[in-house]
Amino acid sequence: MKEERDAVILAHNYQIPAVQEVADLVGDSLELARAATKVDAGVIVFAGVDFMAETAAILSPAKTVVLPAADACCPMAEMVVPGEVRVLRERFPEAAVVAYVNTSAAVKAESDICCTSANAVAVVNSLDADEVIFLPDRNLGRYVARFTKKEILPWDGYCIVHDRMTAGDVEEARRAHPDAEVLVHPECRPGVIDLADHVFSTSGMVRHACASPCREFVIGTEVGLLHQLEKKCPGKVFYPLSNRAVCVNMKKTDLAKVLAALERLEPRVTVPAETAARARVAIQRMLDLPVGVSRPSTSLTF
Ligand code: 13P
Ligand code: SF4
Repeated sequence: MKEERDAVILAHNYQIPAVQEVADLVGDSLELARAATKVDAGVIVFAGVDFMAETAAILSPAKTVVLPAADACCPMAEMVVPGEVRVLRERFPEAAVVAYVNTSAAVKAESDICCTSANAVAVVNSLDADEVIFLPDRNLGRYVARFTKKEILPWDGYCIVHDRMTAGDVEEARRAHPDAEVLVHPECRPGVIDLADHVFSTSGMVRHACASPCREFVIGTEVGLLHQLEKKCPGKVFYPLSNRAVCVNMKKTDLAKVLAALERLEPRVTVPAETAARARVAIQRMLDLPVGVSRPSTSLTF
């Protein structure tokens, strides 16, 4: 069906294993956004959540973008709306506005540049402004603040999955797995980040785990990543930092929905042309940064 429809399937690292296995590319938000600009196929089936499919539709307006689970959203992306960004701009006219890709197209359209977890530090440090309004993830904003001289004004949004993990979870995992390296996502709380060995985007964790001489890892992100880790790093052992770290929206996509999306080319994701044009500027500025500074290499070692 994929061949018949001239489609590619892009899947986020948090998708269920069966969906990851039928995908042409499995990756983090940055890799998937880059892929959306490069695919030759006429149809992109986006196995992820709505803002990711919207980003693909913005970057590839001539392509048909479908989101197999129409109700797969990101609660964090809904924690800031365009009117709030406009108010912030009025209050802090000198500040640049950085929107995490986990935002609606309408919020991206109000922003100067986008970032992902893989390049947030590099994006902020590439700006001329000394003040940066960082939307919507307070934890990622505070993480970036550790690596920049700029003043970060973080919005008060958060990921309901990552914000639930605690410093106590890290302490418990260290007791249970004393030889393991602890890798966490920058959407985690500052207290979790303080106790981790390294901080990476989802694909950054996979690259690090494969290259590390270490054999055991505690993984502080959504549990879906363990499939890619186990597949790409055979012989190594991965423990979730928390078994509660499940993003229900990422789990709404299954094989039946992927097949139905291919058959019907629905549910279709489109973005109004005027919003898309403005949001594209912010996304493209991020993608135009030199590849070297977009790599998810930022890490903390304590
Ligand atoms: P990355 O895969 O870009 O690290 O993002 C994690 C995430 O929560 C996406 O919603
Ligand atoms: Fe949104 Fe968090 Fe789910 Fe990612 S894991 S899609 S940030 S709710």
